[in-house]
Amino acid sequence: MYKQLREQDPIHLAQTKEYIVTRYDDVKEILKSKSFGTGNRLEWLKRGIDYFENKDDDFTAIYEAMNSFILMLNPPEHQSIRTFINRSWNDHDVDLVIEKNILKTLSSITLDEIDVVKDFAQPLPVLTICDILGIDVQDHHYLKELGITMTKSLDLYISYKEMVMVNDAAKKFVDFFKVQIANKTITPDNGLLSKLIQDNKELNAGLSERQLISIGIFLFIAGQETLSGLISNGIYDLLKHPEEFKKLKDDPDLIVSSIEEILRFDSTVQLLGRIAKEDYKIRGIIIPAGSAVTLVIGSANRDEEVFSNPNKFQIERSPNKHLSFGSGIHFCLGDWLARRQAQLGISAFSKRFPDAILLSRKVNYYKNLAIRSLNSLSVKTAQV
Ligand code: HEM
Repeated sequence: MYKQLREQDPIHLAQTKEYIVTRYDDVKEILKSKSFGTGNRLEWLKRGIDYFENKDDDFTAIYEAMNSFILMLNPPEHQSIRTFINRSWNDHDVDLVIEKNILKTLSSITLDEIDVVKDFAQPLPVLTICDILGIDVQDHHYLKELGITMTKSLDLYISYKEMVMVNDAAKKFVDFFKVQIANKTITPDNGLLSKLIQDNKELNAGLSERQLISIGIFLFIAGQETLSGLISNGIYDLLKHPEEFKKLKDDPDLIVSSIEEILRFDSTVQLLGRIAKEDYKIRGIIIPAGSAVTLVIGSANRDEEVFSNPNKFQIERSPNKHLSFGSGIHFCLGDWLARRQAQLGISAFSKRFPDAILLSRKVNYYKNLAIRSLNSLSVKTAQV
């Protein structure tokens, strides 16, 4: 379908009145353009709530949790919060933390048949972000489940039942981070949350407690399902392409280009949304001001005008200028962490289980149009 859209109707006006953009150059142009802003997700969710005519329901926790999700903010507020986070989060030396968590997850695998998602890809990013933020890892199971539910709020379409679940998760997240912020204000530690609290005070940044809570929640969930998807999609792709997997095992340095190819070929973030701030002409079509635009990263990354043999999984592909971390002012803040964790994680997995094979080629995906990640991946490890 992506190919058909790229070739026949690259700026497609859908029945929902949103524009679906599928070509690489167009997706990139719009991501970089000042004529588009991120859609007001809260307004959008509210429209959903009104649609279900359950106005008596209290969905304030969603608003509370998402008030400072920078992904949903536009300039100038976006820039000031992004700069603030970047300034506090300047320590990118996280290899030891990641390696500790890889060892922890892989060494607890004793069975010959495993679920790569539940046993490895999901716990690893959660353990690491807990360490980075300074959250007690004992809470990681609880937070992992909440995060998976909360990620649903980033989907394009969401049912009433899901909205109730997201609100419940949002409430629990807000309560959890409220306690964390309060404790770390009194007793700071070396984690990123304490650093954000201290910098807020010392730099007179003027962020409120509710903004700090929301930033903490977003940093927690932004890299959870996305990274779990990258690791499990990646292991799935390698096991489905044994000749590529062999190349990686023979030359472990290929891990860097392998991760870039997994990001391109099986993009965890498939779609991004924007709103046109003014009329915008592209490929001879006017996108009217106020229109919702869906940018299909998954399609841009398969555009034959940019990538040769785009439907082929080639771990040595170069150049590989995929758009999986976005582009422009909202470019992913955690790309380095995602890349490093996937490189170290998939390397360790292939060394520990070099003879791993898929138990079934049939897999099922997390029900979310925007995020492509597996629900489970059964593998026979043939442990060595
Ligand atoms: C494979 C893993 C990941 C993928 C594919 C991914 C992808 C993306 C994409 C496409 C965007 C841009 C969204 C837009 O333009 O609307 C984004 C933004 C963002 N990502 Fe990631 N991400 C990943 C991991 C992470 C991690 C580990 C973190 C940090 C813990 C993180 C933090 C953020 C933040 C804070 C933003 C918002 C930046 C802004 O609005 O200025 N991401 N990510």
